[in-house]
Amino acid sequence: MNARRRRIARCWAGSIATLALAMVTIAFAAADDPEADRTRMIQFFEARFPDMPLEDYVYGAMISSPDARAQYEQIMEFPPFLNDLDAGRKIWEKPFANGRTFADCFPNGGHSVVGNYPYYDERAKQVVTFERALNRCLEDNGEAPMRYGEREPMGVLTAYARTLSDGMRMNIEVQSSEARAHYEAGRDLFFRRIGQLNAACAGCHMHLAGRIMRMEIISPALGHATHWPIFRAGEELMTFQGRFNRCMEQMRAVPYGYDSVEWNDLEYFLSYLSNGLPLQSSVFRK
Ligand code: HEC
Repeated sequence: MNARRRRIARCWAGSIATLALAMVTIAFAAADDPEADRTRMIQFFEARFPDMPLEDYVYGAMISSPDARAQYEQIMEFPPFLNDLDAGRKIWEKPFANGRTFADCFPNGGHSVVGNYPYYDERAKQVVTFERALNRCLEDNGEAPMRYGEREPMGVLTAYARTLSDGMRMNIEVQSSEARAHYEAGRDLFFRRIGQLNAACAGCHMHLAGRIMRMEIISPALGHATHWPIFRAGEELMTFQGRFNRCMEQMRAVPYGYDSVEWNDLEYFLSYLSNGLPLQSSVFRK
């Protein structure tokens, strides 16, 4: 780690909000371990949204809008994307050429597993997201991997497979020093100012959470990891990392791209922050 990285890591660092390019610098206290980060993040939002039950953070921007939440509950009674889940189920169940299926690659037949992803694979020395695990499953069975970020087959497959873990609580572990380095790289990225707007993820998803920007309420980072993929307007399937790409474009920066080391590290960090929150995948978003 170079001196700059170390300094950033040490001070859980300054981030910038960009409404009207206003610069709002905040400093979190010295970073110790991931659990301290998570506690600090919870405290930050407790101060911001007093009386908000922790579990409600899975609703993202809707925590600030009872109307949007009511509309959400109504749409989720008969989600307009059930066909996509069904298409995903067919892929999940279709045997590979060798007769095995995706379910054979996961403990418990793939039920209640997603809350353990991403995890740090000590042997392969990489952060493994659930999407990457699906591709590993294909490769281990002599099948061609899927392209990340495509609606089919990867998108609809994850839309179905992730629902098998609905209700599980996020349970990300950061155990070794190598795992910790990836977690910290993700954290650095979250707080780093990038792009032509000189904005940081934290600028919007901490400091402007609950505020309205371009007709959209901004969601808090706490709870960001619990509900992927989303169906925007009930139709556009967007994965967690697809959303990172979209936000990075909005920051006028070139997105790192699906399954990049940067996005996987960021997903690792954000997922850790959501530890303890219940998963509900494949949900409506505005
Ligand atoms: C300029 C403000 C801005 C910045 C900077 C920004 N975002 Fe966003 N982000 C938004 C808006 C607006 C939305 C859509 C409303 C919402 O928050 O759900 C959004 C949505 C999201 C969501 C989806 C939340 C949900 O529940 O559907 C995630 C996850 C996310 N952003 C992550 C990031 C990450 C990671 C970064 C940094 C790479 C980032 N954002 C930077 C404005 C921003």
